[in-house]
Amino acid sequence: MDDYCDKRSLAAYFEAQWLDKIREMGDSTLLNSASRTIPDNFVQSPFYLQVCDFIHSCIAQTGSSPRSFLEVGPALGRVSYELSRSYPSLEEGWVVEPSHRLMTHFRRLLLNAEGYYFPFIESLHRQGSIHLNTAPLVRDCQHVSFHCIESRYDHNSIPTPVDITICLNVIDQCESPSLIVDALKEDTRHGGIVFLANTYQWQKKHLKEASEAVNDINQYFTEDGWQPLEEAEIPYHFRFNERFSKLFLSHVVAYRKR
Ligand SMILES: C[S@@+](CC[C@H](N)C(=O)[O-])C[C@H]1O[C@@H](n2cnc3c(N)ncnc32)[C@H](O)[C@@H]1O
Repeated sequence: MDDYCDKRSLAAYFEAQWLDKIREMGDSTLLNSASRTIPDNFVQSPFYLQVCDFIHSCIAQTGSSPRSFLEVGPALGRVSYELSRSYPSLEEGWVVEPSHRLMTHFRRLLLNAEGYYFPFIESLHRQGSIHLNTAPLVRDCQHVSFHCIESRYDHNSIPTPVDITICLNVIDQCESPSLIVDALKEDTRHGGIVFLANTYQWQKKHLKEASEAVNDINQYFTEDGWQPLEEAEIPYHFRFNERFSKLFLSHVVAYRKR
């Protein structure tokens, strides 16, 4: 299959997911642009830190110390990274990502302690780059044994249920969202938590059955056995060229499996 992610989208994911962290790590390189220099706050997405706060708050409510997690469609791994960094109790992380380009760069960021050129959007057809030392990121994750699965997710992707399952802004890009959600529910152990987010951008080119286009992801969790924890609406944005970005609203829910 064609890679889900072209070079421009790779740069868009990098800057949206990682620019604030790269600044925190001490890099102050200005982002070149085909026009004037672009301020960071137009480039990075507020989504990742807000959704990580949401995840932490739900885990704190249950008083648990997770040992394992699964992230479906992690792109470049900011959420997997923040989860690993925040929970020294974590031992195993499964990531399932069908894009070869995204999975390759996920590994380079979080699993290989080498110098790395991080792409950003200079114009619609041109990317700039910033050098990044990934060693501190790799150190923050080294207590977690990562299993990187480069394929579409289904109920056979991982061998045993995990404590935390996360699937953010993926199901409206899939042929059958209900199959993905059923597999996520199966892959969550009793007492564990599912985090699901959706921007509801249903499109014919992805969805096999139009009737699967739900308008509230809470409806996946109406049967007995699922305790609602929290829900939120979080802005989610990506640049397309240096002065144009698309802003979505992502609906995030958390359910505990009884
Ligand atoms: C819109 S992006 C969201 C990425 C990230 N979770 C975020 O919130 O920014 C959709 C992601 O889902 C992945 N994806 C698409 N179809 C998938 C499938 N069937 N199984 C697993 N991941 C999938 C894509 O490769 C991409 O990384």
